[in-house]
Amino acid sequence: MARKLAAGNWKMNGTGEALGEIDALVAAHPAPICDVLICPPSTLLSRMSDRTNATKIATGGQDCHANSNGAHTGDISAQMIADAGGSFVIVGHSERRADHGETDADVATKAKAVWDANLIAVICVGETLAEREAGQTIDVVAGQLAGSIPDGATGANTVIAYEPVWAIGTGKVPTLDEIAAVHADIRARLSQRFGSHGTDMSILYGGSVKPSNADDIFAVPDVDGALVGGASLKADDFGGIISALERA
Ligand code: 13P
Repeated sequence: MARKLAAGNWKMNGTGEALGEIDALVAAHPAPICDVLICPPSTLLSRMSDRTNATKIATGGQDCHANSNGAHTGDISAQMIADAGGSFVIVGHSERRADHGETDADVATKAKAVWDANLIAVICVGETLAEREAGQTIDVVAGQLAGSIPDGATGANTVIAYEPVWAIGTGKVPTLDEIAAVHADIRARLSQRFGSHGTDMSILYGGSVKPSNADDIFAVPDVDGALVGGASLKADDFGGIISALERA
């Protein structure tokens, strides 16, 4: 069985004062019955991990370098994320693919680096608006899955996040039927390639998830949680999404 996960991606948002949101989240949700993850900017990771250490909230990084150390100015490694208290790393987010030209092969190499540090990789896939309008969604996502997930993926070391690029930060969300079609296809491909490990992998939906639409999205088969951007920055909003996942 795939575990339920509410994951927040703070992207390039938040300085020290934003850590108060974590305290508020813990106070409101001291014992969530789903997994909860927040991936802050790397400048906050260590401080956030110290705050969440004794709670049920996990922390993680938003990207990592493929190598564990070396002459790579400005990058951080999965080992460094582990050292800062993280237990997950997002790889292949569409903003990394678009802004930094990351390919499926790059993403697969990074996912292996995440596993080498004994962390869990959150591997992101999703089509652009042009690809959706051209009827290519399933093919694009299938290609990204095939190229971005290394052999050896299991439910314990990998989470998949389906994030349609056009739904990120736009307030636009696919219909529930559209989400269902993509998630069912992802599940079928994971099961075909990884057997029971593919059944165990959580598949998150991401893109304009809010407390007001979370119940409907979490009722879709094979949606095991969400990867949340904007609404993860405020304890009230992210708490509402956690509550919806607990109800699902
Ligand atoms: P929004 O929730 O802000 O649309 O962002 C989704 C996302 O990109 C999470 O990784």
